[in-house]
Amino acid sequence: MELEQYIQSVFIGKDALDDHAKITKAIEDRGMPTISVAPETGKLLTLLVKMTGAKKLLEIGALGGYSGICLLRGTGKAGHLTSLELVESYADAAREHVHQAGFNNQVSYKIGPALASLQALVSEKECYDFFFIDADKDNYVNYLDLCIQLANSGAIICGDNTLWDMQVLDSKFQDTNTKGIRSFNEAISSHPRLESILIPIGDGLTIARLTD
Ligand SMILES: C[S@@+](CC[C@H](N)C(=O)[O-])C[C@H]1O[C@@H](n2cnc3c(N)ncnc32)[C@H](O)[C@@H]1O
Repeated sequence: MELEQYIQSVFIGKDALDDHAKITKAIEDRGMPTISVAPETGKLLTLLVKMTGAKKLLEIGALGGYSGICLLRGTGKAGHLTSLELVESYADAAREHVHQAGFNNQVSYKIGPALASLQALVSEKECYDFFFIDADKDNYVNYLDLCIQLANSGAIICGDNTLWDMQVLDSKFQDTNTKGIRSFNEAISSHPRLESILIPIGDGLTIARLTD
């Protein structure tokens, strides 16, 4: 049995696996890419939100709403998610799925390039407790900088795909995505205000906490 299968069979209930499969099928039917976070990464996001008591959440990269649902599961009815997405039809799909999951009034979508949406949120002096970065890899470092500007003290910042199919380990891979992920891992691990670690779950989840 593969590691991923073992973790899913022991730690992820059938309902959660069915939810993941349902959203994967729905986004496939809409012709969207099936690149939602793995169920075990989703479960870790739920737990991290619960463990930290985060209520104001921000996600970069909505796709079909799976990670958004996982994040909101951690807050129960008390939280709110701002989700940034480039493609309007993807945000429509995400909204539908997040509403179906029971989080009707707890999500708002900002459509367009996430860099512009983040800059607007900085100008509006918005603040968040929890960030999940899961969009274009060559902008991860820029997203990190802007998330820090938007962060309450003690905030958590997570980035997905930080192993990038293990390519970050192998110097023969020098494409912009792999280099973007490497730069992100280096920036988040060396930032003086962040404590961080990369967890080898799913495609790799790097998590950091902003010091008080
Ligand atoms: C890996 S998918 C997100 C998956 C989602 N977080 C989940 O697990 O359910 C990446 C998403 O980022 C969006 N994206 C890519 N570039 C973007 C940009 N510059 N600004 C905002 N969103 C972007 C894509 O359209 C896609 O929906």
